[in-house]
Amino acid sequence: MKIHSNIKDYTVSFVNDTDFLLRLEDRFPEQCYVVDENVWQLYGDGCLCILDTKDLIIQSVNEEQKDLLSVQRLYDLLMKCAAKRNLTLVSIGGGIAQDITGFVASTLYRGINWVYIPTTLLAQADSCIGSKTSLNYKGSKNLIGTFYPPSEVFIYPNFLNTLLDIDYFSGLGEVVKLHILGGILKIQECITSLPAMLKRDPVVLLQAVHTSLAIKYGYIAEDEFDLGRRNLLNYGHCFGHALEATSNFEIPHGQAVVVGMLLANIVARNRGILSEQQQTFISDEILFPSLLVMPKKEYLDTDAVINAMKKDKKRTGESLALIMMHSSFDFSRVNDLTPQEVSMALSESKKILSL
Ligand SMILES: NC(=O)c1ccc[n+]([C@@H]2O[C@H](COP(=O)([O-])OP(=O)(O)OC[C@H]3O[C@@H](n4cnc5c(N)ncnc54)[C@H](O)[C@@H]3O)[C@@H](O)[C@H]2O)c1
Ligand SMILES: [Zn+2]
Repeated sequence: MKIHSNIKDYTVSFVNDTDFLLRLEDRFPEQCYVVDENVWQLYGDGCLCILDTKDLIIQSVNEEQKDLLSVQRLYDLLMKCAAKRNLTLVSIGGGIAQDITGFVASTLYRGINWVYIPTTLLAQADSCIGSKTSLNYKGSKNLIGTFYPPSEVFIYPNFLNTLLDIDYFSGLGEVVKLHILGGILKIQECITSLPAMLKRDPVVLLQAVHTSLAIKYGYIAEDEFDLGRRNLLNYGHCFGHALEATSNFEIPHGQAVVVGMLLANIVARNRGILSEQQQTFISDEILFPSLLVMPKKEYLDTDAVINAMKKDKKRTGESLALIMMHSSFDFSRVNDLTPQEVSMALSESKKILSL
């Protein structure tokens, strides 16, 4: 898959083994790996044993660590690795490892060569394309960041076999979101393949990863810098980010997005934009089956959710923003979501989810 970027074009390659790492060593002699600590524990003695450990940095991953301190630590370690302008940074891990290392790659020496190997479903199906790098700052998610794509992405689907269910279902949330954004044919495809995806069938999953990336590319191709159409990828995220905050990140990102889509659809239905029949159809056929982590009732408290939404950086002015689905399967963004609408949607969602 070739991705056009205003910064630099890059490729996404699907691979059946990790031999490509050896070829990378030949092509980029000055390289340093940054590997997600859990990935290293799982694969350090297996398919990653070919990595030269003198050029290896282990990165612990959690949202608290997606910050400037981790970035500084990597600058220091990379500079000890005698990092020069021709250094290639190879990062191996999920979305958190991607965000930290992508930021480092984009800023060290004003940008070094960066190869990314996504190891989670979320990262393989979604975050590995789109050029965004993000850090959390003072409790706010993704407040700092750059646009900087890797020069190459290698997707090794077998990495997904070891994901914990909670991380797998987080990725699944983004996979179903992208399929819904892909229109009615992709929605039907998603409904057909969902039972197999829930069982983590690798063949069906691989197809879903391909499709998700193709749909995402359709949204970012003309709007890499997120000034218009790309913003629609935030479907489910306006409520989703709030829910991550009210649950203190107990609900993983993609699962919060699933509940976020449910809430956005209720608001859209209440506005008469989405028919009740379509709202129920999307919930019954896609959203409920994809929900592994049920939110606690208090996470859907109106005041807590509105406060969290107000903090969301994507808000414009004093109003609350929301991406909504239409009956035509088009999407649009509104900036005039009212607290009453939020409250009504939250009450209804609690009933639907039997909370
Ligand atoms: N840059 C972007 O465009 C973009 C887009 C979407 C999300 N994100 C960010 O990505 C992050 C979420 O990413 P994520 O869902 O990949 O989470 P993650 O990076 O936290 O990974 C989830 C867990 O899975 C572990 N893990 C990684 N690979 C594994 C494997 N193969 N087997 C077993 N365990 C493995 C990790 O160590 C971690 O504990 C969030 O911080 C989000 O903001 C970034
Ligand atoms: Zn997301």
